[in-house]
Amino acid sequence: MARVFVLNGVNLGALGTRRPEVYGTRTLGDIEGELREHFPGVDLNFRQTDYEGEFVGWIRESAGADGLVVNPGAWSHYSYAIHDALEAIAVPKVEVHLSNIHAREDWRRTSVISPAVDAVVAGMGSYGYRVAIQYVLEH
Ligand code: DQA
Repeated sequence: MARVFVLNGVNLGALGTRRPEVYGTRTLGDIEGELREHFPGVDLNFRQTDYEGEFVGWIRESAGADGLVVNPGAWSHYSYAIHDALEAIAVPKVEVHLSNIHAREDWRRTSVISPAVDAVVAGMGSYGYRVAIQYVLEH
């Protein structure tokens, strides 16, 4: 069975109540449930943390998996530590953002982690996770 890590970073645990006009009303648990239903044959390692060091540790742990999907939240815009952790592992990896970061504030338009991943999905809501998981499974 393919093993895919789906790692969610800072503030993503607040989905559901956090800016619903931007992120929708579904919780991270709802999204996880939807993904488990959609990919019954995949061993999804779905996690969230507000601690950057823990997130970096999980990225390292995913080196032994078949794929990695990350939504680091606001860390995407400034964390070179997450960039370097991603750069160091060879698994297929995709960056996901629920919202279209290019249509929001200027500071969100840059993701410093994008050069370290294979692909980026933004603005598709939870469907973006599905696309990203499908991609890593096929690579
Ligand atoms: C986000 C976009 C980031 O700019 C923001 O800080 C988040 C969520 C997204 O999924 O759209 O926390 O990564």
